[in-house]
Amino acid sequence: MSIRKRIAVTGGAGYIGSHTVVQLVEAGYDVLIIDDLSRSDQRLLDGLKNLLGITIPFRKVDCRNYNALAEIFSNNRIDAVIHFAAFKAVGESVEKPLDYYENNLFSLTSLLRCMQSHKVSKLIFSSSCTVYGEPDTVPVNEQAAIKKANSPYGATKQMCERILEDIEVLGIDVVSLRYFNPIGAHPSALIGELPLGTPNNLVPYITQTAIGLRNQLTIFGDDYPTPDGTCVRDYIHVTDLADAHVKALDFINQNLGNHIFNVGTGFGVSVKELVNQFEEVNQIKLNYKIGSRRPGDVAKVFADANLAFNVLRWKPRFTIKDALQHAWHWEKRIRSIN
Ligand code: UD1
Repeated sequence: MSIRKRIAVTGGAGYIGSHTVVQLVEAGYDVLIIDDLSRSDQRLLDGLKNLLGITIPFRKVDCRNYNALAEIFSNNRIDAVIHFAAFKAVGESVEKPLDYYENNLFSLTSLLRCMQSHKVSKLIFSSSCTVYGEPDTVPVNEQAAIKKANSPYGATKQMCERILEDIEVLGIDVVSLRYFNPIGAHPSALIGELPLGTPNNLVPYITQTAIGLRNQLTIFGDDYPTPDGTCVRDYIHVTDLADAHVKALDFINQNLGNHIFNVGTGFGVSVKELVNQFEEVNQIKLNYKIGSRRPGDVAKVFADANLAFNVLRWKPRFTIKDALQHAWHWEKRIRSIN
């Protein structure tokens, strides 16, 4: 009988982390969640339990706390790690750069030390398309030049990727996944995005406006050099993104070294188009206005995801409309149980 592999998922109580836990369990992995709950929510752990019918082992630990992390690694056999735990708000990172450098960099180095001392040699890392800044051409592929990041958040992702390049000599094999814009919720509506306070990201702002928690959505600028003047992004269903982690694990279990993949759909969609699709698929009129540009936003970024399609054998299954419907179902459910 083969032993099931156990994956430690840091940030597993967060938005992308929780969706990935579901896909991992469904793929036959055992999972151990490590999360300090500083940016995530107990309600997602409850949702996981309802969805999966089992309680996923969970340790409330900040990854910067090496001793607490090492204790987990000493007491549990761990075959691989997926590292989501990080701060991710672009605007906040500009105001509190040290928080971002300290948290995002030290979490990673502490985790890597722990992996090294416990001989865990496989890591999947959450990177971001933010590493490209404003790319010279779109769709952007993994070979594109990495320019100076637009924000401390973006800089932390660039620095983490560099750290991961350099630790190859330690015998730790890595896949970094550069996420484009994850949206939506699990089709069951049992888990989804739960931002603390006012949402920074577009889709939770839309759903919170639709449900009446926010008065009005502001579209940040309609004078960009894009077909309708609003920014273009590559929105990907969070469950599809979660699936990419399962594929990345399969891949890293059979390959050595350091690897980077874009995870996006390959299609650019404007803010206006996204708002229109939300209204259409959910039959809701959204209260919105056009405002000024948000500092730090790039006009247009979407993925060339052919490497992930061909090498990881991963492909998105859901459409944007699915994602917008699932996001809305989740918003309605989570507000009705509060
Ligand atoms: C950014 C980063 C991404 C990072 C994510 C985490 C880039 C290119 N992307 O995504 O890597 O993981 O933050 O938070 O740096 N918008 C509005 N009104 C709103 C909110 C957003 O019009 O109230 C617009 C934005 O101007 C943007 C689009 O919606 O054009 C998407 O914004 P958002 O959801 O915040 O994601 P990004 O900024 O693209």
